[in-house]
Amino acid sequence: MDKREIDRLLPEMVEWRRHLHRHPEPSYQEKETSAFVAAKLESFGIEVKRSKAGYGLTGVIKGSRPGKTVVLRADMDALHITEESGSEYASQNPGIMHACGHDGHTAMLLGAAAYYSARREGLQGELRFLFQPAEEICPGGAKDMIAEGVLEGADAVYGLHLWTPLPVGTVGSAPGPLMASADEFFIDITGKGGHGGMPHRTVDSIVAAAALVTQLQTIVSRSVDPLQPAVLSIGTIQGGTAQNIIAERCRITGTVRAFDEETRYAIRRRIEEMAAAVAAVYGAEAQVDYLMGYPPLVNDEAEFRRFFRVAPEALGDTAQVIQMEKIMPAEDFAYYVKEIPGCFIFVGAGNADKNAVYPHHHSKFDFDEDAMLHGATLLVALADSCLNE
Ligand code: NI
Repeated sequence: MDKREIDRLLPEMVEWRRHLHRHPEPSYQEKETSAFVAAKLESFGIEVKRSKAGYGLTGVIKGSRPGKTVVLRADMDALHITEESGSEYASQNPGIMHACGHDGHTAMLLGAAAYYSARREGLQGELRFLFQPAEEICPGGAKDMIAEGVLEGADAVYGLHLWTPLPVGTVGSAPGPLMASADEFFIDITGKGGHGGMPHRTVDSIVAAAALVTQLQTIVSRSVDPLQPAVLSIGTIQGGTAQNIIAERCRITGTVRAFDEETRYAIRRRIEEMAAAVAAVYGAEAQVDYLMGYPPLVNDEAEFRRFFRVAPEALGDTAQVIQMEKIMPAEDFAYYVKEIPGCFIFVGAGNADKNAVYPHHHSKFDFDEDAMLHGATLLVALADSCLNE
């Protein structure tokens, strides 16, 4: 790996990132972003394959010698947030902002593509630079790109997330589970409304809902292996119209998070069983709508070890490589690592000196752009390691 060449690419990555930051587009509407990426890839002489399902696209470099295939992935979408960073490159699209760093992900992957476009000769194997749309909103862009065959014949997939909770200079990941699944449920309880003074003629949906809320709290404590982290939270409960009327209907909504599919499906099954049983005890009926969000993101252990091996050498004294604790947010990179071995890595991007102190999805979010050097270096180091082994 030619580290100095990646260093030389940093000013361009910053320029691309700031352009994207000024012109953010929300999930499923990344039209101009996609056109910008395609034009850059084509200017590097890289073949571009456009997705039919959305604004996703893939740049393909085939080396002069046959070998493995490595997929490097970035996400391109922004969020519905009004930017308040006050930066000179702040969003020019009202109400839309790159508040998660996906502009940086896109710029880093373009940096890696630029790097390899000059190294086709002597390259062994194939590289796919995958720019996906719609990471922020379910069902997400990854599923469609996979269905279109972007992973076909591929040996490994790598993805990064800039991360301001980690200081710039720290990069980290974890073997196995790294990020949670995020599902949502909606339970409608139907009883029989009536006069508040004559409850014996009614079926009170609020009493049934109250009992169910309490019972649902026993799922994580009684039905889930205590060594497996899981969350079940009720977010809303709504029912009734007046203080002297028995409510015919009551609605409960909530979210479920887990780090393995067994726990995730077990919780879903218990919610459905419990809702039906508890409602029935009170003479009511429960209808459960369960929306499966992104699955847990589980890194391949050998690919995590590759990251842990190659990162310290690739980044040298500029960075510290750590094994992270799992975190509860979800990511649709999870779908790629369900299909083929891969690793998702957090690249520290927080820096108080540069006002990069706000959490992701905050209206004043920004990251230290020097982190893009670490990110692009990591992408190249991982791809080199896999292709040349
Ligand atoms: Ni994100």
